[in-house]
Amino acid sequence: MEPLYIIVLAAGNSTRLKSETTKVLHPILGRPMIGLLLETLRTLKPKKIALVLGHQKEAVQAYLGMTPDLVFAHQSQRFGTGHAALVGLKALKHQAKVKRGKVLIVNGDGPLLTKKTLTRLLKSRAPLSLLSTKLKDPFGYGRLLRGTKKEVFGIVEEKNATLEQKKIKEINGGVYGVDWNFLEVALKKIPKNPLKGEYYLTDLVHLAVKAKLLVEAFCLENSEELLGANTREDLALLQKVFLKRLIKEHLAKGVGMEDPEQVYLEPGVKVGPDTYLESGVRLSGQTQIGAHCYLEAGSVIQDCRLSDGVRIKAYSYLEASKVDSGSVIGPFAHLRPDNVVGKHCKVGNFVELKKTKLSDGVKAGHLTYLGDSEVGKEVNIGAGTITCNYDGKRKHKTVIGEGVFIGSDTQLVAPVKVGARAYVGAGTTVTEDVPAGALAISRVVQKNLMKAPQNKDTIKKSQDNKSQGELF
Ligand code: UD1
Ligand code: CA
Repeated sequence: MEPLYIIVLAAGNSTRLKSETTKVLHPILGRPMIGLLLETLRTLKPKKIALVLGHQKEAVQAYLGMTPDLVFAHQSQRFGTGHAALVGLKALKHQAKVKRGKVLIVNGDGPLLTKKTLTRLLKSRAPLSLLSTKLKDPFGYGRLLRGTKKEVFGIVEEKNATLEQKKIKEINGGVYGVDWNFLEVALKKIPKNPLKGEYYLTDLVHLAVKAKLLVEAFCLENSEELLGANTREDLALLQKVFLKRLIKEHLAKGVGMEDPEQVYLEPGVKVGPDTYLESGVRLSGQTQIGAHCYLEAGSVIQDCRLSDGVRIKAYSYLEASKVDSGSVIGPFAHLRPDNVVGKHCKVGNFVELKKTKLSDGVKAGHLTYLGDSEVGKEVNIGAGTITCNYDGKRKHKTVIGEGVFIGSDTQLVAPVKVGARAYVGAGTTVTEDVPAGALAISRVVQKNLMKAPQNKDTIKKSQDNKSQGELF
């Protein structure tokens, strides 16, 4: 097989996106589009990939990192796609051992290409092959010019097109398979476009025809793969298309969904079979969800691991945490990063966890904050329990032993330990360690004072109380 080289054109600025971030770093499903594109390109096993960068080149390089298969080429001024390809080829020449074979040139702003389509394009024996498709609204794209025998003889850009040419629906996808030798010669011959002052890579077609070389265009039936991200509207559309693909894959693997159009998930997410997702579920980052889980409406889960049979009730927000099998979280629970929730736990409404380990069978049903804590098996945390883990300077730990009962409205002033099977009375502020099996209680003894004094004695008593500042 002849060697394959790739040039990615990504030096353009993002004028039409009206963004401070360069186009190829804009995310599609949480990942910069250049990352998605490279992932696909690498499956073709090229000898080298030259990335032509300009605007925010350092940021793109920092994101991608240095890898042996990548060459970064710098296009200092935006002279057009033809010039960018020349810069890319020069960089390849420095690195390539064999200076022949096929060069795949792709626009950096078209991340939806699939391996299947690219493989088909690269099988072409023509010195120049390209991908095209028919669009209902071809505005903004280059149009393919075909002769009487349907042969391709040119590409005309929107800005240069005549009214008649603007009616052509078949557009250039910006993906080319070019013979190295032809490319080397042709790139130097591309003329400056008089209208835009740029060197158009699309002029390769005209040059090939002039040299009597075959140009082959593969017109894709499904145009989605060739969508380019030029505007914010395009970006949203690209994401929608990509998401639809992912959703389809998950459905095929046995994930149930109430409404597939109302689920968001990212490429790094894995979901087990027989798990059901209600509408408005968002799964992002490296989230892994086991089998037989049930995620109710509005569950937002990022970088978490859920074992089998977990239920997330509506509108819960979970970040970088682990939840073991059979546990129920929410509704309206907030798991901030670094929690480990054991098996068959219950974390109820308005409960917030941070850096907390709940052993199996822990129940924290309502209105609670547990931060920097370790909670033993089968502990019951009463409503309104708060770990006071921060003293204004540092965070401190709370350790609660196995089988402890924490009464409602307890404050645990960390660092503090509650021994196994201890009992903390409701409304207690725990400032000292509680020994195992003890009852800790810290509250003022209740007094029941009557409103209407009944005799002299009670009048006297009530006056005494008032002088001590007590109120009725
Ligand atoms: C280009 C094609 C058009 C095609 C469309 C498909 C040209 C002249 N036109 O148009 O026929 O229908 O793609 O999406 O090629 N870039 C550089 N350096 C430059 C200019 C551009 O690296 O000097 C990069 C951009 O970052 C981008 C890619 O090349 O990734 C394409 O440039 P863009 O301006 O988006 O071209 P289009 O107008 O979309
Ligand atoms: Ca484009």
